[in-house]
Amino acid sequence: MTLEYVQANTDGVLHDAAVATVSPLNRGFLYGDGIYEVWRTYSGVIFAWEEHWERLLHSAAALGIEIPWNADVILKEIQRTVQAYRDHAAGKGELYIRLQISRGEGEIGLDSELADRCRFVILVKQLPALNERNLEVGARLSIAQRIRRNPIQCLDPAWKTGNYLNNIVGLREAKERRFDDVVFLNLRGELTEASTSNLAFIKSGKWITPPTAAGILHGITRAHVIAGLAERADLAVEERMIRPEELADFDEAMLLSTTKDVQPVGCIDDVDFQTGPGTATRILKEAFVSMARDYATAHPQFQV
Ligand code: PDD
Repeated sequence: MTLEYVQANTDGVLHDAAVATVSPLNRGFLYGDGIYEVWRTYSGVIFAWEEHWERLLHSAAALGIEIPWNADVILKEIQRTVQAYRDHAAGKGELYIRLQISRGEGEIGLDSELADRCRFVILVKQLPALNERNLEVGARLSIAQRIRRNPIQCLDPAWKTGNYLNNIVGLREAKERRFDDVVFLNLRGELTEASTSNLAFIKSGKWITPPTAAGILHGITRAHVIAGLAERADLAVEERMIRPEELADFDEAMLLSTTKDVQPVGCIDDVDFQTGPGTATRILKEAFVSMARDYATAHPQFQV
């Protein structure tokens, strides 16, 4: 299998991501003791730069990680990384940009005082294209039966940490049943989110999504829909707890994330949803992309 070229930048050193640079004593590697963010470009401009940066600071504060770089320093490092990517890879499409920050390295042991200083890794690659089948007929999701979303009193899903093991185990379960992605319930049996996306539904002109209290990542794509896009698509926003028994009442379902923006869901287990042209999900997707392109025009400072 040939891997696509991924450009890395480890603490300021540019290199092919296939080449190792992170120490075996790095706490991100040993314990998932770190945080991350994923941005994408629209028209070559990083979308929602500030919102992701704010969420990164929030994740850092929750874990007691003091980030030694400000947003301008990291933005410049991202721009260097993108330049290096373009020098290697011919692709001119939109980019996937990932920033991973670990607490650092030190003697083996959980005590966070053993960490020396924060390290960063930036990864830049082509934005993965949504496959046509998933766009037309929607992703096939399955509710995890053996594992639940972390409750907010544990590793709060609102913190975007480098520890995704809970989600990995749930995704494995859905894949075993030949579904594309997993839907997690919380400990109360209410719907939360998918492995790397938020979840929402359509019913009679309403856009219905689990509230943050269900235990979810406070997604930036989701926040944009709540802040005004839903209204532009003639949908009323309803944030409320949803139980699996209600799924059959919904007309449409969708995933929301930076890399997917709005992606239709074709089914959750044996409940089917409408997909395709003319659906509210499709209209919302088009409204999202148009808003993101307007953002790009208004924010030339985030051009990469
Ligand atoms: N994932 N929920 C989870 C668990 C996520 O990991 C993500 C993002 C989201 C959507 O958040 P946003 O709209 O801010 O991207 C929800 C990123 C894209 C990833 O891991 O690739």
